Amino acid sequence: MVNIKDVRISNSELKQSQSASGLVAVFVGATNGIGMGTLKQFTKLANAPKVYVVGRSRKASTLLLNELEASNPQATVVFFETEVSLMKNVDQICDEIKVKEKKLDILFLSCGYLTWDGRTETIEGIDIPHALRYYTRLRFTYNLLPLLTASPSPRVISILAGGREAEIDLTDLEVRNNFSGIKAMKNGTTQTTLAFEELVKSYPSITFIHKYPGFVDTGVVDRLMGTTKGIYALPATAFRWLLLPIINLFATSVDEAGERGLFLATSARYPSAKPKAEGGLWVPVPKGVDVATSAVEGVYRVGADDATVKDTPALIAYRKENAGKTVWENTLAVWERALGRSG
Ligand SMILES: NC(=O)c1ccc[n+]([C@@H]2O[C@H](COP(=O)([O-])OP(=O)(O)OC[C@H]3O[C@@H](n4cnc5c(N)ncnc54)[C@H](OP(=O)(O)O)[C@@H]3O)[C@@H](O)[C@H]2O)c1
Repeated sequence: MVNIKDVRISNSELKQSQSASGLVAVFVGATNGIGMGTLKQFTKLANAPKVYVVGRSRKASTLLLNELEASNPQATVVFFETEVSLMKNVDQICDEIKVKEKKLDILFLSCGYLTWDGRTETIEGIDIPHALRYYTRLRFTYNLLPLLTASPSPRVISILAGGREAEIDLTDLEVRNNFSGIKAMKNGTTQTTLAFEELVKSYPSITFIHKYPGFVDTGVVDRLMGTTKGIYALPATAFRWLLLPIINLFATSVDEAGERGLFLATSARYPSAKPKAEGGLWVPVPKGVDVATSAVEGVYRVGADDATVKDTPALIAYRKENAGKTVWENTLAVWERALGRSG
């Protein structure tokens, strides 16, 4: 477990860390929730950072953008307005970033939403929530690899459900048969870890982190309950008004989740498989905190307290059968098909 006190000590040292001046970060899904908490912490505490925020609505993000700029006059904040469930849009944004930047230090991925709906495809033929939790996030990662590998110590962080990898149907990774939201979440979780473990083989200078954040009071459950229809609408409303406020008392706040997000993004606790330079740009590990280890070097699956979690039996079996290759080949094929459709 990493104590929140140690997280705060580490974060408070980021500004003094001159070598970490001018960090470049891309945030996808940071207009709310855990991403937003991390974005605020990073912008405020980093030394003259360049921050790209990819979101759906510049107008809805006005207050946030003003707050970011006010929190650090040395920060440069750039907002890209687009719908990232479409791979075509992801490519367009990545192309723009690649024109503007020579390196990327942090890619922070947390876009997504919960829904009771069945499979809901984009015009590119991918289920929207499944795109946001997996295909979109990995597309950003894949497209930005040239910038990431140009950083002295690059990091990719996906906030989803690291540690909850489970048995999935490797022949139906997009969940086209007998779709359910739970099944799609399981797929996205397992695919993320396997894809990171596949990518690290070719890109060992990058640290990949897949985090399960625990229950964070971001409003995500309230929004899900708010969309409940039919006979479940009444119990869902009762849950929202009566139980959720009590449950939220035990949830992690967005601010604390953001502090932990910044720690994951900037602490030397999570070294890559092949660091370019000793310690890289990152903040030294606080006294009494260990450097994290993992069965697959450079890929960390962490829980709410930022400790690495045990390998699940499914993950161990998938590593043995080289399922990462299957997942990655399928991912490339899904992108190709999707981009073919959107022209
Ligand atoms: N919060 C938790 O307790 C918890 C627990 C376990 C796992 N997780 C996972 O962690 C991730 C982040 O969770 P969170 O609670 O921080 O989520 P959140 O507060 O709902 O924020 C999600 C972000 O994704 C964006 N987004 C939603 N729908 C989108 C769409 N159709 N197209 C583009 N962007 C979209 C939102 O943008 P807008 O601002 O435009 O809506 C927002 O920036 C999610 O994958 C979630 O499943 C969360």
